[in-house]
Amino acid sequence: MDQFLITGSSRIAGEVTISGAKNAALPLLAAMILAETSTTLHNVPSLQDVRTLIKLIAGMGIKIEKQGDTVTCDTKSIDNFYAPYDLVKTMRASILVLGPLLARFGEAEVSLPGGCAIGSRPVDQHLKAFEAMGAEISVENGYVKAKAPKGGKLIGCKFSFDMVTVGGTENVIIAATLAKGTTVLGNCALEPEVVDLANMLVAMGAKISGIGTSIMTIEGVERLHGCEYSVVADRVETGSYLAGALMTRGDVLTKKTSALLLTPVLEKFEDMGAVITTGDDWIRAQMKGRPLPVDIRTQPHPGFPTDMQAQVMAISCIADGTSTFIENIFENRFMHVPELNRLGASIQVDGHTAVVKGVESFTAAPVMATDLRASMSLVMAAATAEGESLIDRIYHIDRGYEDVENKLRSLGVNIERINTND
Ligand code: UD1
Repeated sequence: MDQFLITGSSRIAGEVTISGAKNAALPLLAAMILAETSTTLHNVPSLQDVRTLIKLIAGMGIKIEKQGDTVTCDTKSIDNFYAPYDLVKTMRASILVLGPLLARFGEAEVSLPGGCAIGSRPVDQHLKAFEAMGAEISVENGYVKAKAPKGGKLIGCKFSFDMVTVGGTENVIIAATLAKGTTVLGNCALEPEVVDLANMLVAMGAKISGIGTSIMTIEGVERLHGCEYSVVADRVETGSYLAGALMTRGDVLTKKTSALLLTPVLEKFEDMGAVITTGDDWIRAQMKGRPLPVDIRTQPHPGFPTDMQAQVMAISCIADGTSTFIENIFENRFMHVPELNRLGASIQVDGHTAVVKGVESFTAAPVMATDLRASMSLVMAAATAEGESLIDRIYHIDRGYEDVENKLRSLGVNIERINTND
């Protein structure tokens, strides 16, 4: 298991190019299963989760290859509709293959993703929607077995999600593209990654209206063709590097990204004292003094994203005053708190609320990454702390941040990967 050795205290400054969004690439890769001709996807980040999904899709007999940041996929040779536990257990987003398999081939057997560290995260909404479209769903031996109704096609319907779910919305719009008739989906997630998926589906020949709104209407078509498409920029990676500027009186310019993707985050950065400037495809954060405290409430888009909660909390740890964080999306997403406290922060958690009393500075310590985004908050905190911090379990960060140590180094962070198997 690799570790990061970080020697603080760095001023985080410089330019960094943002990769394609992991959370968009995954549904786009799953959507490729729908196409009868070959599909090419550009700006795909090289990440563990992307490799996992490619392996899962290849296991179905599909020809899928990644070269550089481009993935090509040809589904002609598909010979099974099965997603095994071994791969699904490592990544919850694997459930996204259920929709396209069911819609195009009328059947699928996909392992249940089960719980994960940040909460129980069920997939009941995905399954409920497929049932509303006429699918027969059973859960046997930890696998979801799904079958389309007689004739092999899902049937368009009216369905409203009980809560806003990003993966649920994605899985169901994918499935509805090939359903018989029209599907009207209510309470859809508005996240930029959902919009990216819908746009790619349209490029494949799908008929979708209401993209980017909470009600989407999908008129089923007979078949979809391949297309050439490019993954949207990663808003969480963008926000994470900009956060480094706020923590270190630094100056970070993120390139190949868009301010439109992270308005709620940039507003909070400004509240914390940063000067934010933006262009068509770049965002710059400059910070002069100590951060100001902030109040954050995570919400579905366009609210403040839960995936930026840990990184902004790390900034608030060294703010001049007391901040509060209310986590509304996941029940157990404060696992970084004890680790930040080990680095000298003063945070108290009560249920869904964390109260952060700002301290002057972090102090170096050995810590453990607990989930993907939390790990970035620890890296940034360690970068500001004087001395050496060893961060364990960094496989979490490799799941979501492409080329992370080189990008951090280019911003002035003194970071070294230690392979403990050496
Ligand atoms: C996606 C993102 C993740 C982000 C999250 C919220 C990907 C690959 N991951 O995760 O980074 O943190 O959105 O923005 O895109 N829920 C149910 N039943 C369901 C589905 C969801 O109860 O069937 C609950 C979940 O437990 C959670 C909430 O709804 O509490 C939101 O989950 P959801 O939006 O589905 O998150 P993911 O798509 O898993």
